[in-house]
Amino acid sequence: MSAPTAKRARGIDVPTLGIGTWQVSGEDAYEEVADALDIGYRHVDTAAAYNNEEEVGRAVRDSGIQRDRLWITSKVWHTQLAPDLLRRSAETSVRRLGLDYVDLLLIHWPGEDGTLEPALDEMVSLRGRGLTREIGVANFPPSLFDRALEHAPVLVDQVEYHAHLSQETLRAIAEREDTLIEAYAPLGSGGSLLGDPVLEEIAEAHEATPAQVALAWLVAQDRVVALPRSTNPDRRRENFAALELELAPEETARIDMLAAQRRRSFDPPWAPEWED
Ligand code: A2P
Repeated sequence: MSAPTAKRARGIDVPTLGIGTWQVSGEDAYEEVADALDIGYRHVDTAAAYNNEEEVGRAVRDSGIQRDRLWITSKVWHTQLAPDLLRRSAETSVRRLGLDYVDLLLIHWPGEDGTLEPALDEMVSLRGRGLTREIGVANFPPSLFDRALEHAPVLVDQVEYHAHLSQETLRAIAEREDTLIEAYAPLGSGGSLLGDPVLEEIAEAHEATPAQVALAWLVAQDRVVALPRSTNPDRRRENFAALELELAPEETARIDMLAAQRRRSFDPPWAPEWED
């Protein structure tokens, strides 16, 4: 494999490719996760807000894979950051998953002013209780990620990141602080970047697909983990095989240029100022 199967931060190994489960529910979520684990994915990303933790957890448990070989993430919604709400949300996630703990608990989006530090304190306390191994944030722009890091041992910032949206500032913070950036929508929202002619041209040269090129570009980067999602079993295999694809330096440089256009898809009303 040309990309490492795990990325290390603060002595913790996080599997490089995780299966995303946003907008996948019911038996589809069960099948997606069960199949992904069968393929070799060892990292599953869910959230309280995805309404699929029961099915995701059942697939994890049915896989029979040793728990300590898996990396399971869930998230607390931004309206639930008051300490008692956060505690209840995390406890409910773990119960719905049917697990003893999650590996990573994230604040899903920044909350209102004044909520961050108390929420992080509560997460540290949940970690102390063994409900989660690590804590992190999602959708935090650089200054807020810095602020979270000043207050608590945050392991990751999970953000939209792909070949049309660079995240140089966050990557620099991750390098400096020994943390990780997790890329959601790594193929662009709804696979939007897959028709990009540059990705197509590079894919052709490798007898690979544009999706594999987009993922290979991400996972070749230090401190970057990617979370592709597919409801299609063939595409899940295709995406996992991207770990084996090695891009030439000039190909990487071409995709770096694409990413400089910074085309962001996820910008809901509750999003923070992105600082770009
Ligand atoms: P599908 O589920 O039909 O495979 P997200 O924005 O959440 O990251 O969604 C990923 C999108 O990319 C989904 O629409 C998914 O569609 C699509 N997708 C995932 N893997 C591939 C792939 N290898 N080739 C083409 N499309 C893909």
